[in-house]
Amino acid sequence: MNNSLEPCTYIIFGATGNLSRLKLMPALYHLEADNRLPEGTMIMPVGRRKLDDQGWLEELRSMLVDKARGGLDEDVFQRFAARMRYQQGDLSKDQLYDNIRQTLDNDSAFSKNCAYYMALQPAQFGVVIDKLAEAELLDQAHGWRRIIIEKPFGYDQDSARMLEKRLHRHLHEEQIYRIDHYLGKGTVQNILVFRFANVMLEPLWNRNYVDHVQITHSETLGIGGRGEYYDRSGALRDMIQSHLMQLLTLVAMEPPAAMDAESLRDEKVKVLKAIRPIHTSAVHAQAFRAQYTNGRIDGHAVPGYLEEENVAENSTTETYAALKLFIDNWRWRDVPFYLRTGKRLAEAQSAITIRFKQPPQNLFRDTPLEKMKPNWIIIGIQPKECLRTEVQVKEPGPSMKTRTISLDASLRSEDEETYDAYEDLLLDVIKGDQSQFLRFDEVDGAWRVVDPVLRVWATERDYIPTYPAGTWGPQETRRLFEREDQFWRHSLEPDDE
Ligand code: BG6
Repeated sequence: MNNSLEPCTYIIFGATGNLSRLKLMPALYHLEADNRLPEGTMIMPVGRRKLDDQGWLEELRSMLVDKARGGLDEDVFQRFAARMRYQQGDLSKDQLYDNIRQTLDNDSAFSKNCAYYMALQPAQFGVVIDKLAEAELLDQAHGWRRIIIEKPFGYDQDSARMLEKRLHRHLHEEQIYRIDHYLGKGTVQNILVFRFANVMLEPLWNRNYVDHVQITHSETLGIGGRGEYYDRSGALRDMIQSHLMQLLTLVAMEPPAAMDAESLRDEKVKVLKAIRPIHTSAVHAQAFRAQYTNGRIDGHAVPGYLEEENVAENSTTETYAALKLFIDNWRWRDVPFYLRTGKRLAEAQSAITIRFKQPPQNLFRDTPLEKMKPNWIIIGIQPKECLRTEVQVKEPGPSMKTRTISLDASLRSEDEETYDAYEDLLLDVIKGDQSQFLRFDEVDGAWRVVDPVLRVWATERDYIPTYPAGTWGPQETRRLFEREDQFWRHSLEPDDE
């Protein structure tokens, strides 16, 4: 049991939904298993469905069965179950909030330090927070009250600003945790260590040596049961505005003055501010979108996007999005940053790959070496966590031929456990540590970058390029590249590039 932290009541709105099922409940369970939850922590899952405690526990078990590392442990499950009190209710009705308040007031098992997790549709955030405020559930007289807001924070820059205003009617900034779970991933945190704990890289980390940067998140999964949300969101909002832009800021930022939340976020915001705005007339040159049709994944036939549940029959929502960005500052001017993401692609992978320039002079011109292969730095985020540098060496033997070898500083050996990003982040909220959460100016800055693209795409509703599920997306994405010799790097292995 973690005794160094105050107890807390985690109130999870949307407890029977997708996010709770896939991420939150498994993360809380694993915190329980590792004895990391503070003593006295209680969990109040809130859902629309009528379930008694028994019904909820059955539901909970079904959420954990496949997700629990090493299989569901019955003792841990019983300890975890003892913390739960399911609360059924309608988010728009006062009754729900009265019930929550009564439990907090009358049952001393429930700490008055409350973390409210909004695992909800974005349109519901504002309503729930207004209602919490009316019921005085945000009042910090007897304990802290914090809210965790899932992405997307808003639908565009204007709506994000409106939501922000609405939150600040009832909350102080230190009560607001805007989550981007990518910031909780081990390798993502490692980007800062890699960059700022190694002096070797700094002289190379700029426009003089870097040819371009690629940030990729690809999935083989489709949209699952999330059609209702996804069809209104699309890949640019769902992944690029949030997770991939965060990765970009970590790769591109200047060293912060210190590692505290404000210093870090100050530097990230400077990067976002320096991103060259995409002019409406440049949207086609800098952004590309597409949608999957039916195809095969791992040998199985899968339906196309338009055949998915809760997707409009003529939808032009993108399931693939790619963007070319430039950061107009001394370090990065004119270095393209290529970002791409997609559902139902050939492989599931998140990675940052950085390609370096060619040596200024080819000293091996009169040898069998045609064109030197460039150096790359590869940061694999998932499923493989790795850190590699690719360099050229001479092949053994009489002729002057080169081979790419990769200097591998892999981050995790096969037998080391992997942790889910949500585990640390859920604990950070209890600790009151906002450094891995977003400040509003980061959210605002990211919307500023993608808004022009969204606006243009919103007017082009007649046609969207397509790609068969199980491929790397349409060939036309190539048009984003600045030069003929640039290409999407699909594989993290040196030989298959
Ligand atoms: C979520 C997106 O924020 O991130 C999903 O809404 C996406 O569409 C997911 O699948 C990816 O997260 P992870 O941790 O599985 O890479």
